[in-house]
Amino acid sequence: MSLMQLIYASTPFGFDNPTLNQILSVARRNNARDDITGALICRADIYMQLLEGPRAAVTASFHKILSDDRHLDVVLIGCGDIKTRMFPKWHMKDDPAQSWMWTQEQVAAGAIDQASADDVRAVFERLLRES
Ligand SMILES: Cc1cc2nc3c(=O)[nH]c(=O)nc-3n(C[C@H](O)[C@H](O)[C@H](O)COP(=O)(O)O)c2cc1C
Repeated sequence: MSLMQLIYASTPFGFDNPTLNQILSVARRNNARDDITGALICRADIYMQLLEGPRAAVTASFHKILSDDRHLDVVLIGCGDIKTRMFPKWHMKDDPAQSWMWTQEQVAAGAIDQASADDVRAVFERLLRES
């Protein structure tokens, strides 16, 4: 079965801890069932999520995520086949956006739009190394 990785970014709508915990608990339950792993970078001004798993499962999950009203302006950053998972142990790892990523000012100025898919993938790779 083909494994796929998908990365997107979005703008949180109504960001607070209860909302985030609710998103994560449902995500982990569904992802465990659907063989999806990955990581979610969270900050009041940005979500960036990496999803990986069987192609059909990742597509179906992204479809639900796209219409979730707890975030806005979802943009697809990258999507493609992978041989091995980056986050095999996490049904959804959560990380705060780190200082070495982009500041709120940079995000507001369009840093994510200007970043390449490889730049964004490198952010997840660094998170993994530092975790
Ligand atoms: C930023 C963000 C990330 C999410 N990540 C996931 C996820 O990894 N897996 C998932 O099943 N749902 C995720 N969700 C929730 C979905 O949008 C949706 O609410 C959920 O899948 C519905 O689950 P249900 O069909 O079991 O009710 C996420 C939502 C947001 C806003």
